[in-house]
Amino acid sequence: MVVTDGAVSLKHLVSMEILSNEEVLGLIKRGLAFKEKKVHFSLDRQYFAANLFFESSTRTHKSFEVAEKKLGLDVIEFDAKTSSVNKGETLYDTILTMSALGVDICVVRHSQDDYYKELIDSRTIQTSIVNGGDGSGQHPSQCLLDLMTIYDEFGSFENLKIAIAGDITHSRVAKSNMQILKRLGAQIYFSGPEEWYSSEFDVYGKYVAIDDIVDQVDVLMLLRIQHERHDGQGSFSKETYHEHYGLTKERYDQLKSSAIIMHPAPVNRDVEIADSLVEAPKSRIVAQMQNGVFVRMAILEAILKGKT
Ligand code: CP
Repeated sequence: MVVTDGAVSLKHLVSMEILSNEEVLGLIKRGLAFKEKKVHFSLDRQYFAANLFFESSTRTHKSFEVAEKKLGLDVIEFDAKTSSVNKGETLYDTILTMSALGVDICVVRHSQDDYYKELIDSRTIQTSIVNGGDGSGQHPSQCLLDLMTIYDEFGSFENLKIAIAGDITHSRVAKSNMQILKRLGAQIYFSGPEEWYSSEFDVYGKYVAIDDIVDQVDVLMLLRIQHERHDGQGSFSKETYHEHYGLTKERYDQLKSSAIIMHPAPVNRDVEIADSLVEAPKSRIVAQMQNGVFVRMAILEAILKGKT
């Protein structure tokens, strides 16, 4: 494999905590270099990637697939609904099989928090694991594309005021982002329903009402309401949530002229954000999706470099 200078080297990418600040910045800069077509990349042999999604996905699944194909990897089709998962095959055994088949990289999304631990601890499994989201745990590739989008806009994280607003307790995006953004020097604020906030997040930032912070933030990071993880708790009507916690047109107009809005998507329109604001000038929601391909190329490149 030919990897040009500057690439990060990784065995797995399962959480943001395992990355140093230098590795995070390295991946962001590499993602930007892929976006600007400044990377010359080629492979020395056939490499296989499989995307194993046990939870629904549009962006993460398909942007990993685009990234894999742009890098020249052979993508192995996998559909959990028609696989031997139906016959009781465990996640460990599915990944063990992929490894035995010679699959080099498995991108995995699964509802179980920390599902990856037994996979990366295994002595037999040789395939690299890239976490495409574990339950309410982590979503490192989403975090890196969010960081790339912020870095592309502001050139630094130091002293940026970033509000993370919404269903924080259930959001793996929020958990990945709050830790690394604080480590990179940003000032974090949290907002949203109290029942979807936990005091365990106090070490990363301050919990405030959205109306107390909306005119001061550089980045307003909205979160999707994770209905599938609520077990019936904390239900709001769409209108109530939008009025009390969402980005209304009135709140949009209070944002600084330099402020940006982010959302990992899928968006619940007129709930977390007014329908008319999804593609508004301050919105970077489409840019996030575009950046996702390039930062995932950087992640895959780092994993391939780790194999040399
Ligand atoms: N942001 C995100 O993870 O989207 P998908 O669930 O569509 O992958």
